[in-house]
Amino acid sequence: MHEDVEKILVSEEEIKEICKRLGEEISRDYADKKLLLVSVLKGAVVFMADIMRNITCECEIDFMAVSSYSNSKTTGVVKFKKDLDIDPDGRDILIIEDILDSGITLSYLKNVLLQRNAASIKICAFLDKPANRQADITADYVGKVVPDEFVVGYGLDYNEKYRNLPYVGALSPKVYADK
Ligand code: IMP
Ligand code: MG
Repeated sequence: MHEDVEKILVSEEEIKEICKRLGEEISRDYADKKLLLVSVLKGAVVFMADIMRNITCECEIDFMAVSSYSNSKTTGVVKFKKDLDIDPDGRDILIIEDILDSGITLSYLKNVLLQRNAASIKICAFLDKPANRQADITADYVGKVVPDEFVVGYGLDYNEKYRNLPYVGALSPKVYADK
């Protein structure tokens, strides 16, 4: 385990099981649709890579980038950094996110895509942290509910670090207390 990680919250083994379970559900629900998976950079790329390989129905992928975080606290402001390449008009979209926390990012993205006439929009969040919810939004597919702790690994970062950890762990508070 990394020295800055206090404890492991989702192990590599559990990550595999989650991706298999969610992939089966999504494949069943979108069996007769042309699914567009939209991932939110950068945190969700690792989950996107795993979940897409567990989806058996026809699907395309695309990426968006937004940011609402400067350190371990939300700023409450969403910045749009990269738009989709594929036109969302008329598409059945599943947003692939690393974590649903305050919900500000996802409710913003959902509204943007609805305004552009997506046929349907659902959300698949690898982690759900309901304790800190501020926007009225829920995920349609959830990997695991986590407690109100700052987590890193499996794509999730603290100041761009720890994304490469193959598990999800709670970041030791001493790491951000030093800053
Ligand atoms: P929200 O808008 O507050 O729901 O947060 C969305 C984004 O904040 C996520 O996509 C993450 O990039 C980031 N985030 C929220 N909680 C955590 C955390 O515990 N660790 C790392 N990133 C987080
Ligand atoms: Mg993110």
